[in-house]
Amino acid sequence: MTYSQPEIISLPKILDERGNLSFLEENNHVPFPIERIHWIYDVPGGQTRGGHAYKTGVEYIVALSGSFDVVVKTGEKESRFHLNRSYFGLLVPALFWRHMENFSTNSLALVISGNRYDPDDYIRNMEDLKKLRQDAGIDSI
Ligand code: TYD
Repeated sequence: MTYSQPEIISLPKILDERGNLSFLEENNHVPFPIERIHWIYDVPGGQTRGGHAYKTGVEYIVALSGSFDVVVKTGEKESRFHLNRSYFGLLVPALFWRHMENFSTNSLALVISGNRYDPDDYIRNMEDLKKLRQDAGIDSI
């Protein structure tokens, strides 16, 4: 499975009158080996998180509770994904700028990553991202 573009990936949903269940497996629903999981919670109203890209890191983001928007861009265009259910998430490949905003009260963002935390993998400047994408010959969204 290739993942050169951001895309929504649906997860299994086991409906049950006792309460529903969803799950994910690495290299299956999430198309990469899982190295790390972090989550974002207690976000004050109006705050944004995650204004950066990764050189190599890929992420899968799920709204386990509540809702928020993930805005993904590479320079000129941007795409907004509204995450509001725990049975789908957004795959964000490497070399895409992303930030998260419009967090609802008590929202819980689960972020599954394909690599360990590495500050050197962060791209914190959009011009650097554009240059890296140009050098790699990658089309923008
Ligand atoms: P950062 O990735 O910059 O958060 P966001 O992109 O959501 O704004 O991380 C914030 C801080 O947390 C930073 O000091 C690094 C630390 N951190 C870790 O130590 N391990 C992790 O896995 C993550 C994601 C962050």
